[in-house]
Amino acid sequence: MFCKEGIDEPVTISSMPGQFQHTLESLRKEAVATAETGVRAFMLFGVPADKDAEGSQAWHPDGIGQRAIRALREEFGDDVVVMSDLCLDEYTDHGHCGVLNDANDVDNDATLERYRRVARAQADAGAHVIGPSGMMDGQVGAIRAALDETGRDDVAIMAYAAKFASALYGPFREAAEGAPRFGDRTGYQQDPANADEALREIRTDIDEGADIVMVKPALPYLDVVHRAKGETGFPLAAYHVSGEYAMVKAATANGWLDERRTVLEILTSIRRAGADMILTYHAKDAATWLRDGA
Ligand code: PBG
Repeated sequence: MFCKEGIDEPVTISSMPGQFQHTLESLRKEAVATAETGVRAFMLFGVPADKDAEGSQAWHPDGIGQRAIRALREEFGDDVVVMSDLCLDEYTDHGHCGVLNDANDVDNDATLERYRRVARAQADAGAHVIGPSGMMDGQVGAIRAALDETGRDDVAIMAYAAKFASALYGPFREAAEGAPRFGDRTGYQQDPANADEALREIRTDIDEGADIVMVKPALPYLDVVHRAKGETGFPLAAYHVSGEYAMVKAATANGWLDERRTVLEILTSIRRAGADMILTYHAKDAATWLRDGA
């Protein structure tokens, strides 16, 4: 779910029909309605009003991400799992997932220093689980250390471990307003052709202290999901991303596919491949269909 600063009404996301940039109030309401269908966990993304080169709103105690976390914790306490994406791309004025060096490349280690601040701010706001999605080397270890140093060993890390440089994040970048202003993310995200590298990234994140590892996107990478579960046995999430959602929504809006059957078949296939949990924008609909025995 996306929560945007400085709006009075939820804003529709044209490439993600049914999803919104929420106000704090509409976020709360939609989360309550979604929890009623049986969804037990929420992943939150903040969309700030002000961006800068460092992305400093990401770790501001009253940054929109932290306010969204607090809103859901106030609403639900410990009845649902509140997860927070940890990245800088929504917060930087250049749209990259980290801070830049003089050559305008992402500076990995300077970025880790910022990620540590964000992790602490999100933990202070009440996140149960932190999901680092920026794909910097060493990010899980850095965040784990930052949390443990401040006595927050109770906060879990769901690592976006195998995150491919995918075309399928396009709609998300409209939703989170985080498209890079120049260049692309191939310097830090993974080559879609290389499954072995994905497995190495997953093992590294487990070694650094991840509690859950994730493969992203889901459907084009079911082989990676299957290998990751088989080769590590570790708690595994798969992220059915914005472009995957948009494809289903576009085809079903045209009457070309049956939405309920298509969504449940896709989610079943992700589960069958080995995912223990699925992040999906279809969650509320799918939970409703499953609850009603459709
Ligand atoms: C980075 C981030 C992205 C997504 C989740 N976290 C975008 C990116 O890497 O460009 C994409 C999720 C989706 O497409 O649904 N903060």
